[in-house]
Amino acid sequence: MSLLVVNISQVVTPRGTAAQGGAAQGVLEHLPGAVVRCEGPGIVFVGSLGEHDNLFPPPDEVLDAGGGCVIPGFVDPHTHLPFAGYREGEFDRRLRGESYAQIAAAGGGIVSTVAATRAADEDELLRLTLQRLDRQLLHGTTSTEAKSGYGLNLADELKQLRALRRAGERHAVEIIPTAMPAHEVPPEWRHDPEGYVRLVVAQIHPAIAAAGLVEGVDVFCEKGVFSPEQTRRLLAGAPGFGWRIHLHADELCNLGGAELAAELGAASASHLLHVSDAGIAALAAAGTVAIALPGVSFFLRDRFAPVRKLVEAGVPVALATDCNPGSSHTESMPQILALGCLGAGLFAEEALVAATLNAAAALGRADRIGSVEPCKQADLVILDAPDPKHLVYHFGVNLVRHVVKAGRVVVRDARLMGYQANTQ
Ligand code: NIG
Ligand code: FE
Repeated sequence: MSLLVVNISQVVTPRGTAAQGGAAQGVLEHLPGAVVRCEGPGIVFVGSLGEHDNLFPPPDEVLDAGGGCVIPGFVDPHTHLPFAGYREGEFDRRLRGESYAQIAAAGGGIVSTVAATRAADEDELLRLTLQRLDRQLLHGTTSTEAKSGYGLNLADELKQLRALRRAGERHAVEIIPTAMPAHEVPPEWRHDPEGYVRLVVAQIHPAIAAAGLVEGVDVFCEKGVFSPEQTRRLLAGAPGFGWRIHLHADELCNLGGAELAAELGAASASHLLHVSDAGIAALAAAGTVAIALPGVSFFLRDRFAPVRKLVEAGVPVALATDCNPGSSHTESMPQILALGCLGAGLFAEEALVAATLNAAAALGRADRIGSVEPCKQADLVILDAPDPKHLVYHFGVNLVRHVVKAGRVVVRDARLMGYQANTQ
């Protein structure tokens, strides 16, 4: 099966197979008037139509970009997709002045989603996850990371991860699953958090590894959750399981989470609102990708991560939704690009690299996805705009018109025909 995308204003893409930091984070290739040819799941040609016609036979299918631009499919490198229950009541309370921490202390927060997720069966989690994947795809996300972490015991963590596996088998969006039983201390272990750490290390992580359900592991290293010392113990087994390490770090205060991520060779450190200069230097030296989550800052009306300092220090910055019911309830990467620029201070070019190639690198996939180049997988977004800057400049609407995943058109003319995700 071959697909040729024509009538493109320009292809705009980062280049290469590695995360881009510093000045390179703002570098995009612009190819005005190019066509993109896909063969099977891959891109085989990006260039002029004339050159294409000399090199290739007519394609099986032509997709008319309608004069819009083509960018790589978004990669969302940090989400908590398989959850049940919503927290709009808490959201209301926050609008009226209560803080996230106050609500959590009063028995709300993560533990209320844990209760709802434990109460849901696997089929319900599958249904909810597929719904969220549809929304992601319609907003241009073609690959997404997704964490467990609302089960907080072996059976319910496995239930979340099995729901993710089944969702990945039937949806066009590729899921990169992460184990996160150390997302919070579950209510039944509040009297003995150390006991829960030992349980995760001795039983929950090994059982998840034995089930072969994840590629990576994440820990919420935070005051009142897991200390740096506990985090170190929680992650000591990760290399033996072949797991990539991710960390929720320096979100609510500075505990040296970024330094710890760098020391452990983490693929990514997320949040980083309170990262220190030493933490930034450590991330830069280790090549750990900093995942900024500006949706959380916006949603909780908190400060933004110091993305300009991170970029200027040479740390590759990625952007993610953190999609979850408590601190950032959105599936939309375009919304996150807008917040990354207008809230946190990225430039539009940097935000696009952050949401594509750098996000792919955080998930160990920069060799395969994250840019529009021959030899990469054909994951493309066609925008109803001449330039991807419009993702930020024309904020709050969905400019995604077509989505191609692994060489197949999976969203066709969202603009004209309404939302019709092809999830076959
Ligand atoms: O990534 N920081 C910790 N965990 C989530 C929030 C989870 C929740 O409120 O349900 C986060 O922001
Ligand atoms: Fe998170």
